[in-house]
Amino acid sequence: MSLTSINPKLTKAWPKLQAHFNELKRNHFYDYFKKDNGRADKFSISWGKFYLDFSKNKIKEETISLFEELLSEINFKSSVEKYFAGEKINTTESRSVLHTALRADKDEKIFIDDCNIFSKISEAKNKIRFFTESILSGSHKGFNGDNIDTVVNIGIGGSDLGPSMVIESLRHYKNHINTHFISNIDGDHVSGILEKINPETTLFIIVSKTFTTIETLTNANTVRDWFLKNANQEDIPKHFVAVSSNIEKAVDFGIKPENTFPMWDWVGGRFSLWSTVGLSISLSLGYDNFSKLLEGAGKMDSHFRNSKFSQNIPVILACLSVWYNNFFNYSTHAVIPYCEDLKSFSKYLQQSSMESNGKQTDRSGNFVDYQTGQVIWGQTGTNAQHSFFQLLHQGTKIIPSDFIGFRKPQKGNDLHHDILMANFFAQTKALMEGTVAEPQNDNHKEFLGNRPTNTLLIDSLSPESLGSLIAMYEHKIFTLGVIWNILSYDQAGVELGKKLASNILNDLKSGDFSNHDSSTHSLLKEFKPTD
Ligand code: F6P
Repeated sequence: MSLTSINPKLTKAWPKLQAHFNELKRNHFYDYFKKDNGRADKFSISWGKFYLDFSKNKIKEETISLFEELLSEINFKSSVEKYFAGEKINTTESRSVLHTALRADKDEKIFIDDCNIFSKISEAKNKIRFFTESILSGSHKGFNGDNIDTVVNIGIGGSDLGPSMVIESLRHYKNHINTHFISNIDGDHVSGILEKINPETTLFIIVSKTFTTIETLTNANTVRDWFLKNANQEDIPKHFVAVSSNIEKAVDFGIKPENTFPMWDWVGGRFSLWSTVGLSISLSLGYDNFSKLLEGAGKMDSHFRNSKFSQNIPVILACLSVWYNNFFNYSTHAVIPYCEDLKSFSKYLQQSSMESNGKQTDRSGNFVDYQTGQVIWGQTGTNAQHSFFQLLHQGTKIIPSDFIGFRKPQKGNDLHHDILMANFFAQTKALMEGTVAEPQNDNHKEFLGNRPTNTLLIDSLSPESLGSLIAMYEHKIFTLGVIWNILSYDQAGVELGKKLASNILNDLKSGDFSNHDSSTHSLLKEFKPTD
């Protein structure tokens, strides 16, 4: 069963939210703090080692209860159950959306096409575990008998961003394996990596759900040609494995069936790091840490599935984003981790969020007449303070932001951590208060404040907490999609550009640019003069 299609603007709660917005839109939310000492308690959630303070937002208690009304009216709970139960909620592709099953309890049962997917999941996990052990113990050797010490992941989008972000973020958990990622079709990307590695000790993982992505296949061919300059065809099985839902195509490429790791069409590419797509994570951090990442995500799944809306972290974050996106018309959202190891986190979220919710059509196939998908961006603090924070503080645009910080440093010392975190707390306070209490008598120096932020304080950055953090955003994305009445799990919007690129590639080969508009025609002639 698919998700029901309800235009949020036609609910009873929406005009109430509109009226409520009209009442408070000119308020300065710092005034709410002055009137209510208990505001931080009212608008915060403690969950395990996470503490979310969402009190620095343009909200009152009524805002939350109106969103609760909206969620009840659209029967949000039943959408959540359909999602977890494996209903085919990705209707345009007729697929379930079950990345949650990858981190669920082994005893659960979900049948897809009459097959309990948990047996497939545990088979795949065992295969990852055994393979990881064989590489890390040195029982799997390279073609000249040396141990493998380098892993190169060849993939793009969801077959790249998740694993590379996780490995970078958890570098303190890394073992001796060096990891590299080749994604871009830009030949300088692949050549830059090949310059650094030794074919005798490198394992290549070709990761492509479809095994049709031109970037990945071109890069994989280039890498194989390079490898064969140093080794023989029969050495390939020791050095090339593939992750795909299209095992046939992987085998056609030359990968031995026993060297393939299955993935399934019920796992979306951008939510696939929990699947065999995470093989590089397991190799680089060890299988136990990969398992802990999954466990952390599983805990967030239970929190999301079972907590009431007002105490539900992903639900609250999503409602706040609807509040800003659809009522205040703030269309972008910044994510600022105060942790240098999370420097790729916002880049990762850009795909999971914007490829999911950048949609113009509702679940009934009509063009929507309201805003969907937010623009997600960000950088780590404090670096971001010295680049774009000027605009956050004094610009004419309001950018709601998530500040993510940790109680404990990783290996950094306490002095650094206290300075880092003092900045973390100071920024959200400055964004809220501005200089309202101490007018500057000089507009250039005035901070108007009233800029909303969420503060997420987590115990420490670990495989488990990172798993929970990623899953938290996954469920926020789901919740937004349900409220906006869109289909979050397809990505037709990337197809047109791919088709045109393939046509233009043919035109570049033939030198005939006559079929194009005058701009594209002139550009192609500038790029490749034909006479
Ligand atoms: O950009 C479109 C997309 O299909 C993403 O959704 C996906 O993560 C990426 O391309 C890579 O796809 P594949 O894993 O099939 O190579």
